[in-house]
Amino acid sequence: MLDMKEDRAISTHPSIIVRPMTGEDRDLDGALALSQAVSWPYRKDDWRVALELGHGLLAEADGAIVASILWWPYGDAFATCGIIIVSPAMQGRGLGRTLMEQMLDATGDRALLLNSTVEGHRLYESFGFHDVGTVHQHQARLPDSVPPLPDSAVRTAQASDLPAIVRLDEQAFGAARTRLIEAFSRIGTAAVIERDGVITGFAMCRRFGFGQAVGPVVAATAGDARQLIHHFMAEHAGTFLRIDISGDSGLGDWLTTNGLPEVGHVTTMIRGQRPAVAGEARTYSLASQSFG
Ligand SMILES: CC(C)(COP(=O)(O)OP(=O)(O)OC[C@H]1O[C@@H](n2cnc3c(N)ncnc32)[C@H](O)[C@@H]1OP(=O)(O)O)[C@@H](O)C(=O)NCCC(=O)NCCS
Repeated sequence: MLDMKEDRAISTHPSIIVRPMTGEDRDLDGALALSQAVSWPYRKDDWRVALELGHGLLAEADGAIVASILWWPYGDAFATCGIIIVSPAMQGRGLGRTLMEQMLDATGDRALLLNSTVEGHRLYESFGFHDVGTVHQHQARLPDSVPPLPDSAVRTAQASDLPAIVRLDEQAFGAARTRLIEAFSRIGTAAVIERDGVITGFAMCRRFGFGQAVGPVVAATAGDARQLIHHFMAEHAGTFLRIDISGDSGLGDWLTTNGLPEVGHVTTMIRGQRPAVAGEARTYSLASQSFG
């Protein structure tokens, strides 16, 4: 357990401690209340999955959880971080900065990527993060009927497709995310495009927030990415669907025209060198704003 006696947050709240987040109900319920306090749509299960796939720190004051930060190492050279929240009553007292410092101690020499809200931008800049792109959040309740595309090359993935999906994701993301892909396939479903016996694209879809979330989407062309996304729009017609696309994906207008308008965007920031990507396929939609 890490005491923050020296931190400036302590001057106003002497009882604050920062400690690792656990998967116990007390931590998950406290974290859920925290994300609700800043109107983030996380469910308790979303917190559980996020923690299972990475690590977290929580700050606690007088028995209440007042701040969080999570990170996800992908090998020794790269990590993403996110779900950085300070409860509104405690903001502006150095708690966000303290959590960032402790997270950076834990991630060591790894390059770090995050998707920043307007509120967090100055904080991250002060730690050496710089802007490298944008991520656009599209979401809505879909119409009750979304007809499948007539000549779709997409099929539902089978368990035997998983190694190829993991490989393709690694090439497009720049680091292996085996545990994340396996977890998403357990809690959701995957679809693939296969050409001449080779899987050239995939998309995953899982329960998240207010409904379903599509991502990651990795494809060789924007046309293939649209087919993969459309597959899940048809499958989840009549329900709430969210997708977070990269700013250079070229999919924004198409999503809006097809019933998924943009509701906000965040800035992708990096500290250090992102690992190189390989191959033809690229990432059109993120696993999530936090996971990258
Ligand atoms: C972003 C956030 C985590 C910062 O935590 P915090 O404890 O308030 O930040 P700190 O007190 O440690 O301040 C760190 C820096 O951020 C700046 N900052 C804090 N809140 C800010 C805001 N609302 N807008 C702009 N800058 C802000 C501070 O001025 C400070 O910079 P300085 O040291 O140069 O003065 C917190 O405001 C928050 O939870 N916001 C809502 C959720 C969110 O957007 N999280 C970021 C997700 S990427």
